[in-house]
Amino acid sequence: MAAPKTDLWNLDDPDLISAIDELPLWSAHFAQVLLETVLYRPGIAVLDIGSGTGFPALELAQRFGARSNVVALDPWRAATDRLQQEMQQYGIENLTILNASAEQMPFADSTFDLITSNNCLNKVADPKRAWQECFRVSKPGAQLVATENLPGTMEEFYECFPETLRDLNLHEYLAGVEKHIHSKRKPIEETRHLISNIGYELVLEQYPYFVLRYVNGTAFLNHSLIRLAFLPSWRALVSESKQAKAFEQVEEKLNAVAKSEGSLTMTVPVVCLDCHKAGVV
Ligand SMILES: C[S@@+](CC[C@H](N)C(=O)[O-])C[C@H]1O[C@@H](n2cnc3c(N)ncnc32)[C@H](O)[C@@H]1O
Repeated sequence: MAAPKTDLWNLDDPDLISAIDELPLWSAHFAQVLLETVLYRPGIAVLDIGSGTGFPALELAQRFGARSNVVALDPWRAATDRLQQEMQQYGIENLTILNASAEQMPFADSTFDLITSNNCLNKVADPKRAWQECFRVSKPGAQLVATENLPGTMEEFYECFPETLRDLNLHEYLAGVEKHIHSKRKPIEETRHLISNIGYELVLEQYPYFVLRYVNGTAFLNHSLIRLAFLPSWRALVSESKQAKAFEQVEEKLNAVAKSEGSLTMTVPVVCLDCHKAGVV
């Protein structure tokens, strides 16, 4: 593939400009450590699971170069359509998109030298099956690098929410909050157990964390990331008739926290798992 010449690019082309704005800030916090942990070997087969709109598959395809091939796997067709546009804009030819699920991957055994997954393997419907599939399609000596957020994610919200439910006498919803946290973020002990039972050696665990800061609870609850990726599942924890009151009160509580502390901080603990399959590449 010839290197694209930037001086020939039309910086007024809306399709190009749309492709440039490619990375959710949220994902970058996870992927920074993933991209640092990956072993950069030449001419390898790479699988990125849960690539969404293209991260980090696009980045890996470029960092590994034309002699390596990267597959971006995600069942979310609208997101991978966007990835297709980005690939076209950048002229990337060593990346293939596949709409499939991690739990059932259409690859032969021992296909990949490297598997990556940025904040996805703990979100699939059947994590055990997905990890088993990863092991099956990994070559001997392959590396798997996965990031995920941990149960303490946004604990500032998760402290305030049950408190509000208790204040409003909505005790029947409290167990649902705990279940929701477990379904979204697995404790590291569970993941460790899963990985070693499957046969991977967990050679490194890194624990970066980041914080998101807001002027107050109103700004937090109205932020596009929160409205898109968090709020619908939080609302669903309470019956529809109780949602307005519950979230009004959560907002008030978070605003009070912001007032006393100067701003609102949400903490996001992350783990980056570096796993190896026994054998030589
Ligand atoms: C939190 S997003 C992460 C997206 C991207 N890796 C990033 O860092 O921005 C989780 C992704 O996992 C995908 N996903 C959900 N279930 C999946 C499954 N069973 N197999 C593969 N991907 C799945 C979703 O479609 C979504 O794109």
